[in-house]
Amino acid sequence: MSSLATIIKDDALASTLRVGFYGVAACSVVGIAAYIGYKAAGPNETYALKSRHPESNDQVLALDLGGTNFRVLLVTLSPQPRIDLKSKIFVIPQSIMLGPGVNLFRHLADCLLDFMKKEELDKSGVHYPLGKVCKSNNMRHPSNHFPLGFTFSFPCKQEGLASARLTAWTKGFTCSDVVDSDVVKMLQDAIDEKQINVKCVALVNDTVGTLMACAYKDQNTAIGLILGTGTNACYMEKIDRVGTWDGDYNEPKQVIINMEWGAFGNNSRLNHIRTKYDEEVDLSSVNPGKQIFEKMISGMYMGEIVRLIILDLMQQDLIFIGQRDGYGDYRTPLFTRGGFYTKFVSTVETDEGIAFANTRRVLEDMGIRNPTFDDCAIIQHICKNVSKRAARLAGACLTVVINRINKPNVTVGVDGSLYRYHPRFKRNMEKCIKTLVNKNIKFKLTLSDDGSGKGAALIAIVADRFQKSQM
Ligand code: BG6
Ligand code: GLC
Repeated sequence: MSSLATIIKDDALASTLRVGFYGVAACSVVGIAAYIGYKAAGPNETYALKSRHPESNDQVLALDLGGTNFRVLLVTLSPQPRIDLKSKIFVIPQSIMLGPGVNLFRHLADCLLDFMKKEELDKSGVHYPLGKVCKSNNMRHPSNHFPLGFTFSFPCKQEGLASARLTAWTKGFTCSDVVDSDVVKMLQDAIDEKQINVKCVALVNDTVGTLMACAYKDQNTAIGLILGTGTNACYMEKIDRVGTWDGDYNEPKQVIINMEWGAFGNNSRLNHIRTKYDEEVDLSSVNPGKQIFEKMISGMYMGEIVRLIILDLMQQDLIFIGQRDGYGDYRTPLFTRGGFYTKFVSTVETDEGIAFANTRRVLEDMGIRNPTFDDCAIIQHICKNVSKRAARLAGACLTVVINRINKPNVTVGVDGSLYRYHPRFKRNMEKCIKTLVNKNIKFKLTLSDDGSGKGAALIAIVADRFQKSQM
């Protein structure tokens, strides 16, 4: 633990890391339920796919649900090999996020149909006419469907490549009658109801999609990491180390473990390092007591932690002195839950030096007139420490996984708005990992270019080919 002490100055954080070492092992046991047993999910098969040089273009659709944006994608894999991607973002209204599950899946099917019409996938002979039997001379999809990969970024008990039961909603979704149901079936029912000639052949978590999308380019990729609205990681595990595997131990050789590390701490193991702000964030969320680790790290909660700290200082008259109006009140969105967005944390932290131009702008937009130098310095200090804590927590847990893999080169495919847009998150994580990682390992954090939908699409192409080869 001496190396920990060099990067973590305060005891509370140091003990989080200690828990992290044991905790990740526990997480992986929980997460084993979410293995992808199908061998196409391993990078080897992805390379096979890359080197196979398909003689014609392969096209596959993908849905990507669970991040900031819901996307429909069309992925074309051409002989070079080259991957082309077209996508469209659709809104998921709050009423759908909180309403009956059946409406959510109907909405997804509506968006899919809209996208297919826009891309004219409903017209051409190559792409099947919607709701009609495809042309019999179409050799690429003889089974009469357009394959679809579904990135569903929520915890699931994965029972097959195209079968997964939702364990619990996270990240603000609470749609009824979905928990414990097979979400692929719910999606397929909604697709069939609209007579769309599409078959969902694979469901993956966003971490898995990210791992696959990066493994396509870099064969050392062994971990998929998301730092966005939520946080989670998955990694490639040797099958003989998966105690709960109930299949053949000779085939496949590896599986992907979705760790669902956001749920780390749900069993109170992190309580001793949680602050009163963490507790408040949790209590006012739609899922109190759940996703405890995620609530200390991810983009959905970071701004709120900062807001609660600022509010505390305001209530003690330690900041924005002289900012109250004639009635003794502050007029600022800082009093509204969610009023300080996580993107403001990034904006504030881009300020270098003492001018605080960005910080000042953020505060003025929040109704704080003429913030002083001290006000700006305090706000920046809060943002820096909240985001640094998050980066260290994620970095420490990631190191446990890197060390467990223990290969000379380990690439981590990373995606998510927090990692992408925060000016220091990557650097802070790297610093933490360098201090903790086994000295024989070279690690690399690689930003995924096209999101996890691309990975889901690659898996769907392999799954579709595999199914058709069995016909
Ligand atoms: C994207 C993925 O690239 O990253 C999403 O395609 C994923 O599925 C996301 O959830 C995470 O980022 P954010 O910041 O949008 O939650
Ligand atoms: C939440 C989900 C998890 C997902 C992560 C990142 O933690 O439970 O499945 O991977 O968010 O989007």
